[in-house]
Amino acid sequence: MKSILITGCNRGLGLGLVKTFLNLPKPPKYVFATCRNIEQAGDLKELGSQHNNLHILEIDLKHFDAYGKLVTDVSNVVQDDGLNVLINNAGIASKSTRLNFVQADSMIDNLTTNTVVPVMMAKAFAALINKASKANASLPMGVNRAAIINMSSILASIQKNDSGGMYAYRTSKAGLNAATKSMSLDLKDGKILCVSIHPGWVRTDMGGPKAPLDVETSTKTIVETLMTMNESHNGGFFEHNGKPLPW
Ligand SMILES: NC(=O)c1ccc[n+]([C@@H]2O[C@H](COP(=O)([O-])OP(=O)(O)OC[C@H]3O[C@@H](n4cnc5c(N)ncnc54)[C@H](OP(=O)(O)O)[C@@H]3O)[C@@H](O)[C@H]2O)c1
Repeated sequence: MKSILITGCNRGLGLGLVKTFLNLPKPPKYVFATCRNIEQAGDLKELGSQHNNLHILEIDLKHFDAYGKLVTDVSNVVQDDGLNVLINNAGIASKSTRLNFVQADSMIDNLTTNTVVPVMMAKAFAALINKASKANASLPMGVNRAAIINMSSILASIQKNDSGGMYAYRTSKAGLNAATKSMSLDLKDGKILCVSIHPGWVRTDMGGPKAPLDVETSTKTIVETLMTMNESHNGGFFEHNGKPLPW
């Protein structure tokens, strides 16, 4: 893989994914990491000073009219090679509530960030990812050719929902899963792999201190899993270790 763009990289799993890709024996030539505020992204900036293949891009992903500039900035670097992989990682999780406490605002916030943003990012970058797929036409479907990876959650699984509540987060990630499936069909002819991944329950600001997995273990496992994925995984929903999850 020559290039990858990951969203939400100033902390948590995004930062962990950036570190994992930079530390691969053969790291990508270009790692693009987005964050909302570079000045406040101390750990990411520190990595940037150590790795000249890391390109930090500032964007609030809810600012859809800024996507054009983001694509142009990435395109100017990768040029005719295109972009191999987009990981839609940035996400939010409103506090879990029961039905009588659900607020429209929190549902709209979660749906915007967790569902609309990944779809609009996929739309914005589809041409550049398609370029990478064409430039690597001899490779099988997979991350070394072209892929869109959507960071979902086991809480999106309707079949596995045995505790209720969490309307905003569950519906936004279930919506993302529906979008992953459509992307996998819309982009199938271009041989672009599209999957939803649950990273495990991980100790981040979102996952909290009681989560069993640390960021390094989750992101290493995710990257190993992604490297093994092929056409048979297209349009699927998987745990970080590659185990399929029910919709
Ligand atoms: N941790 C878990 O146990 C767990 C489990 C299942 C799924 N996930 C999923 O994994 C992904 C990463 O989670 P995490 O645990 O690393 O969460 P986190 O620690 O809360 O980090 C979330 C990241 O998303 C960014 N972000 C949120 N809204 C954004 C926006 N509008 N524009 C740009 N960036 C935005 C945040 O940036 P700011 O710092 O600027 O807010 C931050 O970098 C999420 O999609 C989450 O739903 C996590």
